[in-house]
Amino acid sequence: MLDPEKIPVITIDGPSGTGKGTISYLLRSWLNWHLIDSGAFYRVLALSILDDEIDLLDEKKIASLASGLALEFVDSGIETKILYRGDDCSNAIRSEACGVAASKIAVYESVRSELLSCQRNFAVLPGLIADGRDMGTVVFPAADLKIFLTATSEERASRRYKQLIKKGIDASLPALLRDIRERDERDINRAQSPLKASDDAVLIDTSNLGIEEVMLKVRQIVKIRGLA
Ligand code: C5P
Repeated sequence: MLDPEKIPVITIDGPSGTGKGTISYLLRSWLNWHLIDSGAFYRVLALSILDDEIDLLDEKKIASLASGLALEFVDSGIETKILYRGDDCSNAIRSEACGVAASKIAVYESVRSELLSCQRNFAVLPGLIADGRDMGTVVFPAADLKIFLTATSEERASRRYKQLIKKGIDASLPALLRDIRERDERDINRAQSPLKASDDAVLIDTSNLGIEEVMLKVRQIVKIRGLA
């Protein structure tokens, strides 16, 4: 039985290309809870840095940009739109360049600590789905359910390749695989909030599963935990 005083939180962590975003969106639609895509915070910061030609090594300046960073996650009916200062930046932040820059600034402790309260503020009733790398380990350590999605780097690169080609964007599979591996390396080995499964997380390897199959497993776990 859920404590009515407590805001329920489900965390979905894992590397990029494991289906976190889609599963989080489907969960949000099913449960009618709020959603936070924590990677969007790092990506929006990265976009501002690239646009304004700020030095990626200037931690102090980047931390000041991160302070009070306010994003909105709006359900368009088919996906989550990310609004920053009222502008829809959902597409602009999805570039590979933004992803790479995001993972470079995500190593800074001062940047992460500025973003912590911005992210925790999303935990409001009726509940929150939190998508990221450190949602279960650092941001919401007391979450009611923690899910950690994995998949081989080859499978994740291939999914990304198909997504880009479908959108009419030119892509190179070997380059995507290299970027994914480099990004994993940085995310896993950084000193601050590294990408890792919380000890109490449920692990799901999505390498050979379609989204419906993953969602079926997730729904079962959510029901078993009494969250739906
Ligand atoms: O999930 P997404 O690919 O949008 O995240 C972009 C980058 O932001 C990741 O590679 C990671 O370095 C960083 N990130 C993070 N902590 C999170 C979410 C994302 O460090 N909770």
